[in-house]
Order: sequence, then structure tokens, then C-alpha cells
Amino acid sequence: MQTDEHVSVLKADLLKSCGTFRVLVGVTGSVAALKLPLLVPQLLQLPGVDVRVVTTDHAKHFYNPAEVSVRIYNDKDEWELWTQRSDPVLHIELRRWADLLVIAPLDANTLGKIANGICDNLLTCVVRAWETSRPLLFCPAMNTAMWQHPITAQQVSRLTEFGYVEIPCIAKKLVCGDEGKGAMAELSTIVSVVKQYLPTKPDESSQKTCT
Ligand SMILES: Cc1cc2nc3c(=O)[nH]c(=O)nc-3n(C[C@H](O)[C@H](O)[C@H](O)COP(=O)(O)O)c2cc1C
Repeated sequence: MQTDEHVSVLKADLLKSCGTFRVLVGVTGSVAALKLPLLVPQLLQLPGVDVRVVTTDHAKHFYNPAEVSVRIYNDKDEWELWTQRSDPVLHIELRRWADLLVIAPLDANTLGKIANGICDNLLTCVVRAWETSRPLLFCPAMNTAMWQHPITAQQVSRLTEFGYVEIPCIAKKLVCGDEGKGAMAELSTIVSVVKQYLPTKPDESSQKTCT
């Protein structure tokens, strides 16, 4: 796709949905990112829910974008979208668009960045600009040894102090062969937590401008 056309498509995409509860899914470079193509349709089945995805570059390694039915934003989009003062800044547009952010999976690297306020890619910029009064859910996922490192608990506590909601990881045999805690929560758990934040009636959710 030509860059100009690509930019127009990106600009139009965020204006497209209205009268819905808008869920932004952040996905990072954990092997659990391979579940993204399963998570998105489960979220879309919730009444009145619209979904977009923000991916880190490493997360892209784990899923096939053709298997994800909604737009996936990445770092390249952020920089392609902005060429002059009048252009939108994608991480700000996304934080305006979304009613809820769920980071599934949240890997050790991005956990550390968020805990320390680092914002060096599209996802961490959305998080840094996130209004803490809006729900931000995070689903840690990492190898058991990484999970057990003392810095993990410190960083998870930091996020909960910000008001973010942990959807705890679970113990199971991990893809790397180790057995223990560190696997991302089951998709059914993640979807049921998101469901708790839906407005009682879908049309009571954000009434943002739409075209
Ligand atoms: C095959 C593979 C699987 C990985 N799985 C995980 C994981 O489950 N959790 C984690 O914290 N890091 C995992 N990593 C390491 C991250 O991908 C790495 O820290 C990366 O820099 C994360 O970048 P991001 O946070 O920008 O997505 C894995 C790396 C590879 C190569």
C-alpha cells in the first residue's frame, strides 16, 4: 500500500466505531502473544465491544496478522502518521479512542519499562499517556525463573499502585519446557475480567464523535 493511502486508512480507522465500548489490546513479545488471534474474537463477542490492537515489534514474531480481524497498530504506523504539525499523534489518538486497555501478554521487558515510566514505542507511549482513571488491565507472562526474580514482584506492585489491575499469571508447563508460574492467564479469565468493566447497557458507554 502507498504511504499516503496507508496514512488515510489509519486516520479513518479510529473514527469508524461509535456507540461501543472500545477495548485496546496491547501485545508484547511473550510466546503467549500467539493467542492474540484467539483473544480478539472472544472480546468481539462481548456486547457492544469494539477492539483494536497495539503491538510491539517483538510480539509480531508470534502471531499471523492475517488471522486477526481488527487493525493492529505498530511503531511504524506511529511515525508514518505524523509528518507535519496538523497530523494526529497515534499514541494520543489511541488513548483517546480506548475505554479500556488490556495488555495480554505483558512480558518482563515491557513490565519493567512501564514500572519505570519508559515510553520508547507505541504501546509504552499509550500507557504513559493513559488516564489512570480508565481501566488498564495487565496479564504478565514470562518464564518461571523470570517470574521468580525479586524485581518482578516489585514491578507488578508498582503497576497496581498506579491503579492498574493485574490478571495474575498461572502455573503450567511452559512452552520452554519449564513447569511453574509465569504462564499468561487463560483467555476465558481475561475476557471475563474485561466483561466486568462493560457499561450495564452498551449505549451508555462513551459517546465519542464518529463519522
Ligand atoms: C521464543 C521467545 C519467547 C519469549 N517469551 C517470552 C515470555 O514469555 N515472556 C517474556 O517476558 N519474554 C519473553 N521473551 C523475551 C522477549 O521477547 C524480549 O524480552 C523482548 O525484548 C521483548 O520486547 P517487547 O517487550 O518490546 O515486546 C521471549 C523471547 C523469545 C525469542
